[in-house]
Amino acid sequence: MPPTVKNEGYRTADEMADRQRVISVSEFFLKNRHLLGFDSGAKALVTTVKEAVDNALDACEEAGILPDIRVEVFDEEDGEFRVAVEDNGPGIVENQITRIFGKLLYGSKFHKLSQSRGQQGMGISAAGMYAQLTTGKPLHIISRVRGDKLATEMFVSIDTAKNRPELHKKAHLKWNRTHGTRVEANLEGHYQKGPHSIDMYLKQTAIANPHVRIDFTDPRGGHVRYDRSSRALPPRPQEIKPHPRGVELGRLIQMLGSTNSRTLLQFLEHEFSRVGRKTAQEIVRVAALRLSERSHPRHIAHAQASALYRAIRKVPVSAPRTDCLAPIGEALMEDGLRKEIDADFFAAVTRPPAVYRGNPFQVEVAIAYGTPGGVGLEVDAGGHIHKTGARKRAAGAEIALSADEPAYLLRFANRVPLLYEQGGCAVTKAAIQTHWRTYGLQQPKRGLPVAPLAIVVHLASVWVPFASEAKEAIAPYPEIVKELKLGLQACGRKLSEYLHRTQRLKREYDKRSHIEQYLPHVGIALQEILGLSDAERDATVVRLDDVLNKKRKV
Ligand SMILES: Nc1ncnc2c1ncn2[C@@H]1O[C@H](COP(=O)(O)OP(=O)(O)OP(=O)(O)O)[C@@H](O)[C@H]1O
Ligand SMILES: [Mg+2]
Repeated sequence: MPPTVKNEGYRTADEMADRQRVISVSEFFLKNRHLLGFDSGAKALVTTVKEAVDNALDACEEAGILPDIRVEVFDEEDGEFRVAVEDNGPGIVENQITRIFGKLLYGSKFHKLSQSRGQQGMGISAAGMYAQLTTGKPLHIISRVRGDKLATEMFVSIDTAKNRPELHKKAHLKWNRTHGTRVEANLEGHYQKGPHSIDMYLKQTAIANPHVRIDFTDPRGGHVRYDRSSRALPPRPQEIKPHPRGVELGRLIQMLGSTNSRTLLQFLEHEFSRVGRKTAQEIVRVAALRLSERSHPRHIAHAQASALYRAIRKVPVSAPRTDCLAPIGEALMEDGLRKEIDADFFAAVTRPPAVYRGNPFQVEVAIAYGTPGGVGLEVDAGGHIHKTGARKRAAGAEIALSADEPAYLLRFANRVPLLYEQGGCAVTKAAIQTHWRTYGLQQPKRGLPVAPLAIVVHLASVWVPFASEAKEAIAPYPEIVKELKLGLQACGRKLSEYLHRTQRLKREYDKRSHIEQYLPHVGIALQEILGLSDAERDATVVRLDDVLNKKRKV
């Protein structure tokens, strides 16, 4: 028998049993708030704005409304900020407000498979919880549903021990909006400019969402408007059922246990996308193991479920539907970039849809390239080569392209900019693994190309596999990295063509500058040799210039 150590500090199993407790999801995330993007004051402020704006855009688009968003950040002194985000969306019905803002893991998007910005059901309640933790103040919500005479105003916080909402005050008031929602949070934070700022998040949001108008007032009194360049709402992504190819055994067992279908055949047809009567019959036949088309899904034993799972993997099923995806599109991607980044060359590529673990996704890549020194060359309608003018400055946060710095990488998931965790993101991995030297750029080992280049990458999916709950980086599933690389390579090829073209132009331009410099001297020499008058000399030079110009046309 092992000796028993007598020590006051040790506990018995019974004593340990006394200490077991259920952990509420709110308590968990309060302790681990870095998982939700609240690990520093600066980040907390960006995350709060991001969660509220993402929700506003989702709500507007779901209701078919062109989004008009107002974002205000006020400095309340001593490190406290008040963030207000207001939208012209459909509004929230009164009996949902407390749970949406005062309960973690409550939302309308988690259980459906369709492309939206939010998916987890805790973005805005987490922001509320952080606000409450740092300032003790509840969220202040005003919302009005179209047709209601008055708006509802509520002050809501979370009882973190129970993950339940607490309503502090409720009122009905007149509001100048006919429908929409305003969310205000007081939180401790730190306002800064730069690549990880509210300004940058909003600017990038404008790039990926050309149909959105955003008015932003910063705590220093600055005001920026990002106007829409398109009045077309993105096509409404359709909701889909899971594709059988991606389903795992545990999930299949859970689906069998909770379905309302009364026969196995119905279950397969109704609960999965792309499974019609014939495919369902084939799956049941291949599964065998005393399963019949009329077996009741809830009475299927574990061994039979395994057989069914194996059969699902064997029987050919058509590829997932893709109308569940709403890519930005090449033209709008390029327009969005042109509007916000000053550069000389733009290109965009939208890849065809693909699938990871049964989830449809689509990759889009766009690039902006600026000539070093800020001026490029262009050919006019008459075929003459000109220097383009110095660049104008675009509104809001600056995305400056530099010939001596690594390319600026802008990552988006379902049209939401990802500002943090660049290193751990599938997009970065794919961009680093792309051979940019092939396309005429410098590239250090294991790095992004060094060039005056902005690379925009968008991943649209019915379920974005984020690396953490903070939704800052995309997990590197091999299927996703492969598609990302194909998109980057396609843009790389377009860039390479452009670089060749401009090099040719530059050579022509240099040659012509040379000739122009010496042409007057040639004229004088000709005059002397041939004994021409001044007028005859000028006419000869003009004709000579003409001949050279014709030769130079590109
Ligand atoms: N401004 C708004 N207008 C209308 N509905 C809203 C608004 N903000 C939030 N909602 C509703 O509240 C729900 C919860 O929002 P929350 O941000 O907590 O989660 P989510 O957006 O579903 O997912 P995620 O955690 O990924 O953000 C949303 O699913 C949406 O239905
Ligand atoms: Mg959300």
